[in-house]
Amino acid sequence: MNHSYHNSVFLLLLTMLYFEGIHSQYVLMQHVLQWPPTFCQEKVCKPNLSERFSIHGLWPADSLRSLRCKCSNPTSEINKVNAVMRQNPNLNNQLKIIWPNLIAGVSDVQFWQYEWIKHGYCNQNIIPVIQYFQAAVRVSTMMTNLIDYMDVPGGVHPSNHTSYSESHIRQSIFNLVGPNIDVFLSCMINSTGHVLLKEVYLCLDRSVTHFITCPGPVKSNLCGVNNIFLPTF
Ligand SMILES: *[C@@H]1O[C@H](CO)[C@@H](O)[C@H](O)[C@H]1NC(C)=O
Ligand SMILES: *[C@@H]1O[C@H](CO)[C@@H](O)[C@H](O)[C@H]1NC(C)=O
Ligand SMILES: *[C@@H]1O[C@H](CO)[C@@H](O)[C@H](O)[C@H]1NC(C)=O
Repeated sequence: MNHSYHNSVFLLLLTMLYFEGIHSQYVLMQHVLQWPPTFCQEKVCKPNLSERFSIHGLWPADSLRSLRCKCSNPTSEINKVNAVMRQNPNLNNQLKIIWPNLIAGVSDVQFWQYEWIKHGYCNQNIIPVIQYFQAAVRVSTMMTNLIDYMDVPGGVHPSNHTSYSESHIRQSIFNLVGPNIDVFLSCMINSTGHVLLKEVYLCLDRSVTHFITCPGPVKSNLCGVNNIFLPTF
């Protein structure tokens, strides 16, 4: 092989990387789970929610943060989500279980529309709307429910009275993602000053098929090191 062939292949690769880079910063997917008993301490929720993690959203992210985009035509995106749900009743039914809206007076599909417009839509060239929602189902079939991995002997048990260290919580999540795979945690501080675990961000590869370490300094939003509660209803 001669030199100029090498050079042109190299240039072509560079060009492809360049356009890919401009096109999207998407390097991983954050599968963000929320803990309803925490969420519902600050929001008015629907009655009878279960003490199981549910999906907050599926957020394409660069190596540091989730990506947001400006949607110039929300109505057309809302219609796309509605059409997918109408045409795929199985998908719709699965999403109702794993990705329920928690807030009283808001429907599940309104929540999905919101998440699609805020987070999914910017990467629709890579993950179109139906694949976006199918990815949520796929990740959910990779586990039972996160709480089943955490609430084991020696793990963390939901309670208003017992708190855990950040590292203890992280360890319990290794039962799902495997050792040494870091996740992001986010917490909320309620009006009596208790620190409550609010969300767990599981990171997955670009094709949303396996867990990877959430990159960068592991974000621990408001959680602190000790005395974190996983409250009950
Ligand atoms: C909530 O659950 C209780 C007890 O299981 C039941 O009596 C009540 O009707 C339920 N409420 C709603 C709105 O489903
Ligand atoms: C704050 O959270 C703790 C733990 O769940 C709970 O016991 C306490 O009642 C909460 N405070 C308020 C004002 O709800
Ligand atoms: C835990 O605390 C929350 C917030 O104060 C309260 O709503 C809930 O009923 C408590 N759970 C139990 C089992 O007491």
